[in-house]
Amino acid sequence: MSIGMTLTKFLLEEQRRYPNSTGNFTALFSDLVVAAKIISREVNKAGLIDILGATGGKNTHGEEVQKLDVLANAAIIKTMEHGGHLAGMASEEMEGVYKIDGKYPKGGYLLLFDPLDGSSNIDVNISVGTIFSMLKCKPGCDCTDKDFLQPGASQVAAGYILYSSSTMFVYTTGHGVHGFTLDPSVGEFLLSHEDIKTPEKGRIYSINEGNTQHWLPGTSRYIEHLKTNGGITARYVGSLVADFHRNLLKGGVFLYPADRKARAGKLRLLYEANPLSFIVEQAGGASSTGDARVMEVPPSELHQRTPLIIGSKADVEEACRWWREGRA
Ligand code: AHG
Ligand code: MN
Ligand code: MN
Repeated sequence: MSIGMTLTKFLLEEQRRYPNSTGNFTALFSDLVVAAKIISREVNKAGLIDILGATGGKNTHGEEVQKLDVLANAAIIKTMEHGGHLAGMASEEMEGVYKIDGKYPKGGYLLLFDPLDGSSNIDVNISVGTIFSMLKCKPGCDCTDKDFLQPGASQVAAGYILYSSSTMFVYTTGHGVHGFTLDPSVGEFLLSHEDIKTPEKGRIYSINEGNTQHWLPGTSRYIEHLKTNGGITARYVGSLVADFHRNLLKGGVFLYPADRKARAGKLRLLYEANPLSFIVEQAGGASSTGDARVMEVPPSELHQRTPLIIGSKADVEEACRWWREGRA
């Protein structure tokens, strides 16, 4: 009885289909899948740990109960550092870059990630995620910050894992967007959403209305326009991966724009906006800062923030039109 198309098998077939894609992806992704399964296990029992950890931070095994962001970060570092495919890693949870030094063989890729996105939602059992982006080392790479400062258009792969009612692994290597759902009974990610295409226009907008007083005119007028025009619904979970994934499948627009409080926006360019922008463009959508295509923003520092308007192409274009007119 076939268990269906596993992520590993799909990657191998993709590698055969596109001769220029080296076998490294398959091995790299396989290590990342292990990290995803570990994080999924920890996220799913987080509530339990909290109960068991009520004695002041020690769980029943006497281990220090770590914040899940740090735990997820460690899980990715530990599963990815020995594979021989990476020269280094950068993460939301680490100030500087993590070099693959002499300890393990050094590869030609760089991995950037947000190990746990939406972590403020963990203790109220709302979906969270992991976001990742892969770059190739440029000639002369000595794995310092500057090697990671490549525009989103340079990404060779990107994706996310969504820990929700089920755990999903969604990725692109530039040949479409494909989604896999974890079947815990066999411990495999099985193909569930092949070649995802996002609707040209949606009926959902996602923005934190708690920031209304800080919005600049272009945002306020656009949201007002949506509300008066009707036929649209608001959905905002507060976990970027969850909000993005819902809009990717159903259509719609997510906005975390620049405002008077966050002049450069809140979300990080290299390991939140760029990977999701690669995904959405491969699915036929769009992603903008309001003024420019996110994937063309030249990064100047590792943890740089960016405004983000992402989702269905027609919705993003309309939101950007209101944004620019609001500045006129
Ligand atoms: P992280 O948990 O990795 O810091 O990301 C949180 C982000 C993102 O997931 C979400 O869209 C956004 O923060 C929500 O911000 P607000 O609470 O300001 O709306
Ligand atoms: Mn995040
Ligand atoms: Mn995070």
